[in-house]
Amino acid sequence: MAENSYPISYHEPEVVKESIFVGSEALAKAPEIEGVPTGIEGLDELFFTIKEKRGKLEQVSLGGIPKYSVFNITGVSDTGKSLMAEQFAVEQAHRGDKVAFITVETPANFVIASIKYRALAMGYDFDKFQDNIILIDAASHAKLRENVPDLLATLAYAIKEYDIKFTVIDSITGLFENKEMMARAIVRRVYNFMKKWYQTAIFISQKRSGHEELSAEAAGGYAVGHIVDGTMVVAKELIASQYAARMYKAKLGDIVRLFRIDGCRMSGHDTKTHYMEITDTGIVRILGPLGSE
Ligand SMILES: Nc1ncnc2c1ncn2[C@@H]1O[C@H](COP(=O)(O)OP(=O)(O)O)[C@@H](O)[C@H]1O
Ligand SMILES: [Mg+2]
Repeated sequence: MAENSYPISYHEPEVVKESIFVGSEALAKAPEIEGVPTGIEGLDELFFTIKEKRGKLEQVSLGGIPKYSVFNITGVSDTGKSLMAEQFAVEQAHRGDKVAFITVETPANFVIASIKYRALAMGYDFDKFQDNIILIDAASHAKLRENVPDLLATLAYAIKEYDIKFTVIDSITGLFENKEMMARAIVRRVYNFMKKWYQTAIFISQKRSGHEELSAEAAGGYAVGHIVDGTMVVAKELIASQYAARMYKAKLGDIVRLFRIDGCRMSGHDTKTHYMEITDTGIVRILGPLGSE
């Protein structure tokens, strides 16, 4: 190619020395893996790390999701995603940390009422820590919903102002409604932001169809899964045949709720499909694995 046929922005290849680290230098900057309790009974024990004890390698429970991880919770509607997000936010707020709750679908005043109810059902006195929840209302402000840089600038402001350590987005799929070809770019941008600001984060993503119920596939679910650190899948199954009734040890007409960790690149994790329960007061609990009873 003739030299003058390069675009104007062409420059001689450049060595980016700041991008090179030897192992010990990189490790000095690596966060120690520790667990963040999620407030969801039965979930925290499903993550683990390997530790050396007297010359032997042992699997030790993390007691939560890895700190600084960005998790995606995906499922069709009414599978318990928002309840899980609320429980997570309440748990962090109760432990004394500040949580940003970005609501994309439901206005903030409705969400806070639901979060307060969640705290009550978890046995906590919400009045004591209610200001640890910082709502960002992207449902009522189209600018935030439709323009990711505005949303991230607003979040950065809130993080600095309130010293926020945790971020919940319900839902990330609501940020690319009607522009799904933008999904990956938007999710990557938001993910990189979480990393830069050392947030431990939960993104909710809505699966459009019930097809392949327990896969992370469909509606943005796929786009999100490859970018974030880990994915949890929630599903509900209507027991419509004797075969299904036997398989799930349920009765015809029952709804069986299921949960699975689809992947986590920051720690070891359980890979089985688990039964899940939503109690009468709207609390999500992860139960034993299928086939264990
Ligand atoms: N306050 C509540 N009390 C009891 N059950 C609830 C409550 N809120 C929601 N549920 C039940 O949990 C289901 C899942 O709710 P939600 O987390 O909002 O679903 P998603 O966000 O996945 O669409 C609802 O369909 C309902 O059956
Ligand atoms: Mg929801």
